[in-house]
Amino acid sequence: MKAIVFTEYGTPDVLELKEIDKPIPKEDEVLIKNYAVSVNDWDMGLLEGGDLINRLLNGILKPKIQILGSDIAGRIEEVGKNVRRFQPGDEVYGDLSGKWGGFAEYVCAPENALALKPASMSFEEAAAIPQAAMLAIQGLSDKGQIQSAQRLLINGAGGGVGTFAVQIAKLHGVEVTGVDSPGKFEMMRSIGFDHVIDYEQEDFTKNGKSYDLILDVKTNRSIFDYTRALSRNGIYVTVGGAMGRLLQAFFLMPLISIISKKKICIVALKPNKDLAYMNELFEAGRIKPVIDGPYKLHEVPDAFRRFGKGVHKGKLVITVAHN
Ligand SMILES: NC(=O)c1ccc[n+]([C@@H]2O[C@H](COP(=O)([O-])OP(=O)(O)OC[C@H]3O[C@@H](n4cnc5c(N)ncnc54)[C@H](OP(=O)(O)O)[C@@H]3O)[C@@H](O)[C@H]2O)c1
Repeated sequence: MKAIVFTEYGTPDVLELKEIDKPIPKEDEVLIKNYAVSVNDWDMGLLEGGDLINRLLNGILKPKIQILGSDIAGRIEEVGKNVRRFQPGDEVYGDLSGKWGGFAEYVCAPENALALKPASMSFEEAAAIPQAAMLAIQGLSDKGQIQSAQRLLINGAGGGVGTFAVQIAKLHGVEVTGVDSPGKFEMMRSIGFDHVIDYEQEDFTKNGKSYDLILDVKTNRSIFDYTRALSRNGIYVTVGGAMGRLLQAFFLMPLISIISKKKICIVALKPNKDLAYMNELFEAGRIKPVIDGPYKLHEVPDAFRRFGKGVHKGKLVITVAHN
């Protein structure tokens, strides 16, 4: 089978299209013919190997896992003897983070990482959903306790998480402001953002406005700046970003809730937890993934370059094979 392989950490230049053996499923796994996969920030971190946590996860000097890609969608070809929920022919999708292997024509997955894909959802739409939509739902609902008529601000709004988050927020009747770069504003308005802010022109923590809920995918400011931009009883939720800022948020969380009525939360992703809910929303026509691409398997290095520049709109998706 064809796969995008890397054997050393580096830039997207180290990603190579190779012919390798098809994987063999273990007893509790299924073998999936993979039709689509999306690019996540985590793939980029593992490729670059720049971050100590990524190196501890995937090899200090060289990557242990050589095929990246977690969010996949495809059709089951074989099932291991302990698999109960699926059978050959089922169309499935899910987040295989920790196992990876998605930038390839075939991938093995444990059954608990998968959900059935609705027939009306394309493989590309399915591959866009898992990580970004779970972070959006878990950030807004589980941590943010989103409520109707609130004012929400999303920082880093035009990428994967933000484009799901605004659509979920609109189901709650919330007024949504998105912070990103102007090249994404037209797309952002078209999916429901009421207001947009260019982060190079305006600092939303210093413009005198306040928000009941802030969802942050960049965490590039001091926790005190975010706290200032929250209304009384407001909640700030980060899903990721700059490590120093995340550590500051983590250590100051208790202090901020003692000295004010504001709350600081950090999302620890529960992979695939809310896929059934996403299926419901999708089938009811209430949510639609925003797809950048789709690109082809041999274009994965260029797709990573595009992702690295941050110019993608929504989720960057690769079509691995046509159905
Ligand atoms: N908590 C967990 O367990 C967990 C697990 C997996 C991933 N994550 C995190 O989830 C996040 C993934 O988010 P995503 O998929 O939505 O990323 P994304 O698709 O890269 O979107 C980020 C957006 O932020 C914009 N941006 C860049 N600099 C900005 C700035 N200074 N201010 C405001 N916006 C800015 C980017 O556009 P421009 O570059 O064009 O400006 C881009 O549109 C990452 O932080 C990742 O670390 C967390």
